[in-house]
Amino acid sequence: MYYNIYFSPTGGTGRVAAILANRLCGEHRDIDLCRDIHEISLTDEAVCLVSVPSYSGRVPEIAIWRIRQIHGNGAKAVLNCVYGNRAWEDTLTELQDALEDCGFVCAAAVAAVAEHSIFRQFAAGRPDGEDAGQLMEFADRIKTKLQAGVFGDLDLPGSHGAYREVSKGGPFKPEANTLCTACGICAEGCPVGAINQSDPRRTDKDICIGCMRCVDRCPKHARDFDAGFMEMMSEKFAPRLSGRKENYLYI
Ligand SMILES: Cc1cc2nc3c(=O)[nH]c(=O)nc-3n(C[C@H](O)[C@H](O)[C@H](O)COP(=O)(O)O)c2cc1C
Repeated sequence: MYYNIYFSPTGGTGRVAAILANRLCGEHRDIDLCRDIHEISLTDEAVCLVSVPSYSGRVPEIAIWRIRQIHGNGAKAVLNCVYGNRAWEDTLTELQDALEDCGFVCAAAVAAVAEHSIFRQFAAGRPDGEDAGQLMEFADRIKTKLQAGVFGDLDLPGSHGAYREVSKGGPFKPEANTLCTACGICAEGCPVGAINQSDPRRTDKDICIGCMRCVDRCPKHARDFDAGFMEMMSEKFAPRLSGRKENYLYI
C-alpha cells in the first residue's frame, strides 16, 4: 500500500509530491497533514512519500506533531522537503529523525524547489516542466532502490538533533484588511486554527505559523501585509532567493 503524506498550506509541496507519488506508485492514499489526523498504524509493507515545506530550514512544528500520530512499524519512507529557492538546512534531517522515531525505515530523500509562498516572485511557477522531468527521473531511481530492498544507509546533509533555532512564523503573520467579508474560508482552512471561526478578522498571532494559506485562499484578497514592509523584506531576501536553485536526490 502506498501513502502520499503531505503538509502543503499553499500547494507547492503538494505539487512536487504529486509528481513524485504518481511516478513512484500510481495508486495511493493521500494523508493531508494540514488537517488533524487520528492515530494511524502502518505495516512494513507500506511505502510512504512524506512531504513537508522547509520553514526557516526546519520542518513546520505542526507537521512534525501530526507525523508523530503515525506508527510506521517498519514502513518505508521516502522523504521530500520542498524549499522556496533559498535553502533547507536541517529540514531533511529533522524529518528523518522524526520518522525513524515513529518506526519508519528511511529509504531515500528529495529536496525540491517550489515557488516561495511568501515572496511569490521567487521560483515563480515552480515546479515547472524541467523540474517535473527531473523529479520523475528521481522517482524511477527511488523505485529501483525500493525494489532492491536494501535500506538503512541514508546519509542526509543537515544536523541531527541540534537543529537551527527558529521563531514560529517569524514576522510574517497576515492580517485581515478592509476587503474582508468574514466568509470564513481562511478560518476553515487554517492548518493550526489560528483564525477565529466566528470572527475571521481576528487572528491569534501566537498560534499563527505564517504559512500563507489564508492569503492564498482568500477570494477577496483580504489577507495581506503592509505593502511597505513587504517591499523592504523582499529587497532584504532577494540576494538569497534569486537565481535558479537545484533539486536534489539522496539515495
Ligand atoms: C514561514 C515560512 C518559512 C519559509 N522558510 C523557507 C526557508 O527557510 N528556505 C526556503 O528556501 N524557503 C522557505 N519558505 C518557502 C517555502 O518553503 C516554499 O515556498 C514551499 O513551497 C511552501 O510550501 P507550500 O506551497 O506547500 O505551502 C518559507 C515559507 C514560509 C511560509
